[in-house]
Amino acid sequence: MTRQFAGRVAVVTGGANGIGRAIALGFAAEGADVAIMDREEGPLGETAEEARRHGVRVLALSGDMTDKRQVAENFARVRAELGPVGMLTNNIGQTARENYSEFYLAKPETLEFVVGVSLMTTLMCSRQVVEEMRERRFGKIVSISSDSAMNGDIGTVDYAAAKSGVLGFTRALARELGPFKVNVNVVCPGPTNTRAMQRIPKDAYERAKNAIPLGELCEPEDIANAVVFLSSDRARFITGQTLMVNGGRVFY
Ligand SMILES: NC(=O)c1ccc[n+]([C@@H]2O[C@H](COP(=O)([O-])OP(=O)(O)OC[C@H]3O[C@@H](n4cnc5c(N)ncnc54)[C@H](O)[C@@H]3O)[C@@H](O)[C@H]2O)c1
Repeated sequence: MTRQFAGRVAVVTGGANGIGRAIALGFAAEGADVAIMDREEGPLGETAEEARRHGVRVLALSGDMTDKRQVAENFARVRAELGPVGMLTNNIGQTARENYSEFYLAKPETLEFVVGVSLMTTLMCSRQVVEEMRERRFGKIVSISSDSAMNGDIGTVDYAAAKSGVLGFTRALARELGPFKVNVNVVCPGPTNTRAMQRIPKDAYERAKNAIPLGELCEPEDIANAVVFLSSDRARFITGQTLMVNGGRVFY
């Protein structure tokens, strides 16, 4: 393992569990100081502890990241305690889960919730770092979308809309920030072995697995590897792009 990120600061939103946890640990393993933002204090503390084993500085920041004031407070603490943010991963997002329904039955508050958590957090957190990245002429922003944005899975109209918004956001911001040497990209996971997938009925799990040419679900580390690469100097000429990490479920 190289220490390619030594001296750089990474922020990972929703980094206590699942994909975000793997990303936070991936950055720490390669030498980055890491700020993890999440509302689940128990798992947040555990992930932070594990990241510290890599000998890096780790800041665990709890709170609801759909709350604008909380977002501003968390990023202010990162700047004060770790320094300027070099790498941001916008990982927070979710489907309507227990309120899942086809669109003709969807409640307005569910639509608002899904778009708020799966799109607005990405805009709000990115807004916190872009001025400094422009000034420093350095920065890497990677946002986690979903292959549902391309596939249009039934019952996820709100989620697909939000995650497609993440793609448009990325492309437009990549154009704005290109002249400042700031890279902005997206990773689209397919069905990934996190707690959300582990909770679904066994037959639905098997169907999801069988729809993947590589014959298994994605692991959180597969997504982390893609994010670490896109946040690295090796990806210096990649911006505005969408990397699908889905075992071939959807081609784009
Ligand atoms: N798991 C999959 O199959 C899959 C597939 C495609 C895309 N994704 C996307 O990947 C990302 C991570 O998904 P996951 O499966 O690891 O989810 P997860 O539920 O395991 O982890 C998400 C983390 O985000 C935190 N979080 C959620 N809302 C928050 C808020 N408002 N404020 C602070 N923290 C908040 C949660 O506490 C949790 O720790 C999401 O954007 C999701 O849409 C997941």
